[in-house]
Amino acid sequence: SDAQAAREALAAWYAANGRHDLPWRQIRDPYAVLVSEVMLQQTQVERVLPYYHAWLERWPTFDALAAAAPADVITAWRGLGYNRRALALRAAARAVVESHAGAFPWEPRELLALPGVGPYTAAALRAFVRDEPVAVLDTNIARVVARFVLGAPSQREIPAHRLRAAAEALLPRTGVRDHNLALMDLGALVCTARNPDCGGCPLALACAWRASGCPPPEASARRP
Ligand code: ADE
Repeated sequence: SDAQAAREALAAWYAANGRHDLPWRQIRDPYAVLVSEVMLQQTQVERVLPYYHAWLERWPTFDALAAAAPADVITAWRGLGYNRRALALRAAARAVVESHAGAFPWEPRELLALPGVGPYTAAALRAFVRDEPVAVLDTNIARVVARFVLGAPSQREIPAHRLRAAAEALLPRTGVRDHNLALMDLGALVCTARNPDCGGCPLALACAWRASGCPPPEASARRP
């Protein structure tokens, strides 16, 4: 099918061009992935790297973080912004240790009840740690899906439920983790918000946005 051909082209591109050495992609530990996703929600990859390494060195597990002093957690977060995210991370660690006896709560309601864990982070944990068949819709993936599937210049005007349905229709039966990471990297490296490199895009031939001549966003939808 078209979706199958697109997934295969994307996978080949990702194997050759993906950011495989990012440290949080080399580990399948819900703690490490949670730390990375919370840090990456507000800060660029390059800036997160030293914080991520220092944090895991100091607090390598939910147990360790649960026992940390709030002041130390805030100090270690300094420079990442939004202290309350650091405190939420510590509160999540305490919840895992105290309410779930140290077993990570994969059950959907329990997962979403962890402090600081919303739908995005829950999906990222499921896909990246467990390879579960869920669409991870960060900004980059949403833009790729909006363009490739829906023919829109960006995700901004598209209702969330339509983006989700389009992203879910693209999911493979296996290899969901790499599929989501590939879309993420394609959005970050090729299908960028401004000046996308359609010439270097593995999905260009089947892209709905490209097929309609890459119309720019409406002036009213453009942000200054
Ligand atoms: N790899 C896994 N999650 C990521 C994210 N949020 N940003 C960049 N790379 C990632």
